Amino acid sequence: MTGKHSPISSKLPVLMHGADYNPEQWLHDPKVLEEDIRLMKLAGCNVMAIGIFSWASLEPQEGVFSFEWMDQVLERFAQNGIYAWLATPSGARPAWMSAQYPEVLRVGANRVRNLHGMRHNHCYTSSVYREKTAIINGKLAERYAKHPAVLGWHISNEFGGDCHCGLCQDAFRSWLKKKYGTLEALNAAWWTTFWAHTYTDWSQVESPAPHGENMVHGMNLDWRRFVTDQTVDFCRHEIESVKKANPELPATTNMHMIEGLDYRKFADVLDVISWDAYPTWHQGTNDIKLGASIGFYHDLFRSIRKKPFLLMESTPSLTNWQPVSKLKQPGMHRLSSLQAVAHGSDSVQYFQWRKSRGSSEKFHGAVVDHVGHEHTRVFRDVAELGRSLAAISEVTGTSTPAETAILFDWDNRWAVKNAQGPRNMGIHYEQTVLDHHQAFWEQGVPTDVIGSEDDFGPYKVIIAPMLYMCREETGRKLERFVENGGTLVATYWSGIVDEHDLCHLGGFPGPLRKVLGIWAEEIEGLYEEDRNGLALSPDNALGLTGTFEAHEICELIHVESAEVLGLYTDSFYAGRPALTVNSLGQGRAYYMAARLKADFLSAFYQRIVEEAGLPRTLNTDLPRGVTATWRTDGETDYVFVMNFSGMEQQIPLDGREYTDLESGEPAGDSLSLPVHGIAVLKREV
Ligand code: GLA
Ligand code: ZN
Repeated sequence: MTGKHSPISSKLPVLMHGADYNPEQWLHDPKVLEEDIRLMKLAGCNVMAIGIFSWASLEPQEGVFSFEWMDQVLERFAQNGIYAWLATPSGARPAWMSAQYPEVLRVGANRVRNLHGMRHNHCYTSSVYREKTAIINGKLAERYAKHPAVLGWHISNEFGGDCHCGLCQDAFRSWLKKKYGTLEALNAAWWTTFWAHTYTDWSQVESPAPHGENMVHGMNLDWRRFVTDQTVDFCRHEIESVKKANPELPATTNMHMIEGLDYRKFADVLDVISWDAYPTWHQGTNDIKLGASIGFYHDLFRSIRKKPFLLMESTPSLTNWQPVSKLKQPGMHRLSSLQAVAHGSDSVQYFQWRKSRGSSEKFHGAVVDHVGHEHTRVFRDVAELGRSLAAISEVTGTSTPAETAILFDWDNRWAVKNAQGPRNMGIHYEQTVLDHHQAFWEQGVPTDVIGSEDDFGPYKVIIAPMLYMCREETGRKLERFVENGGTLVATYWSGIVDEHDLCHLGGFPGPLRKVLGIWAEEIEGLYEEDRNGLALSPDNALGLTGTFEAHEICELIHVESAEVLGLYTDSFYAGRPALTVNSLGQGRAYYMAARLKADFLSAFYQRIVEEAGLPRTLNTDLPRGVTATWRTDGETDYVFVMNFSGMEQQIPLDGREYTDLESGEPAGDSLSLPVHGIAVLKREV
């Protein structure tokens, strides 16, 4: 879609700006709460996420509720034009519950039950935990679902982790019975004849454990899928318990960069996707690589629903949990916040509004510091961003028109790293995906990040780095995509196993063999210092020349219907194909047999962008470290030009007419961006 989506909340149909707000920490000092409102307005904040860890303040004893403080906070919000994402408090449970009902405490993979403490450590299977959650959620919903200040639900907080208690073991077995029907089918799918692991009774099946079973790859994979399903089911349970009172209020849950949950499976239960971004800016002389990778994650979260998402958390200055906590240099707050908007976020929100006085996050960055007033560098940065967000608010609801997609499946991610294959010291799956994505980011070509089950229809180009786990259906879908004129780029270590993690027999890359027109016979891992090379063939169809370094992984392939574009330079397989292209129907499929570096990826993808006719945001070559992307409502494009290069930059514009959205001034022929600069321009479609 290239039009305008309806706003996430009709109550606040503008870009949202705000923070996690924990007034329960200050109830003893009501002046602080009054002052908060003054400061929120001064900072241009219009939304707060409230109640995230408030269970003990809302239900101090089992069945005894205390909502007066929340009433007052929301009332004050309503009077002052501030809105709330109201959280369900299940991210941390009160002590009375753990004492009374130990089954709510999570059991680790080592089968030891946690003591009470910390957060994010509940058993999602426990019917007691589910019941207690439904009660408090129901009470919150009854009281606040129609409150004028409440615009939506913030479900729990950063779901994650797994529980190995008896209840979860039973649930896992039921899940497996439903999936496989018989123990024979499960044994076959998990290849349990290997090492005499055949199960003869369902009760013998146990979740993976460090001191038990952890080498049955099919089981490891099913456990992760089960954990996702169980977490989604818990999230759905929470949403049902709040939606009864007002089905109109949207629900979200804040995701983060974890590997453990297949977030795409949450798409149907949530109305809005939101995520928490904590980049470690300012390592080294520039932020290019990190800027590109955060761009990737924004693309990933946006692509889950292909709609505007929310940046639910970010830090206004530093965190206190990263190995080194650097301050955001001048300009970086604006750049990193507007980067989210550039990639499709309709909010910039922080953890947290006011610094806690005690406990583990007392030194985490916040809009209001311990000093308690607005005369700080961080507050000024936040307030300035508030003004910028207000000035560019017409981008709210606009879409991101990507014609390129990166294929990034969670179960492939789990399987490829669990494989015990050619390079256990580091197959670098995520980094490889990021490297391919970065080549588009550098050119200012927007990308979606999709899964195998998504529709491939909207795309001209699909990049599938290391599609190790590839279902037969995915192979057929990619075949149709190419036959219909699409361009596919695949790499080594693709089409190796099916959805059960069983190897495809009859020649790799299994279901991709026809579309790629090659047979992959052998693969080797290289040591860190080893190098091979790719020498481009004279007059190859891409028009690329020269030799590029290959490292880490080299696959030995034979061409079947494909054409050779380049050869290995070294080792006993020098002279054999390392880069190929296959024509199928109206499209083409490229194959990189080895891991290649950024220099090659940049050169290669420039040619792919030209060949496939992919529009660049600005029809001009961007300086290194500068990227651009755009959002559109179908009539007006909003162009974001971002400078991660660590240097001042002069960027030639492409001859179209641009206006600076914040100043309303015409942009001229070129744009100067300071270090960490970003400009938001407007043009007619
Ligand atoms: C996470 C949590 C927050 C807070 C921040 C700190 O994202 O959701 O509650 O702990 O980290 O960076
Ligand atoms: Zn459990």
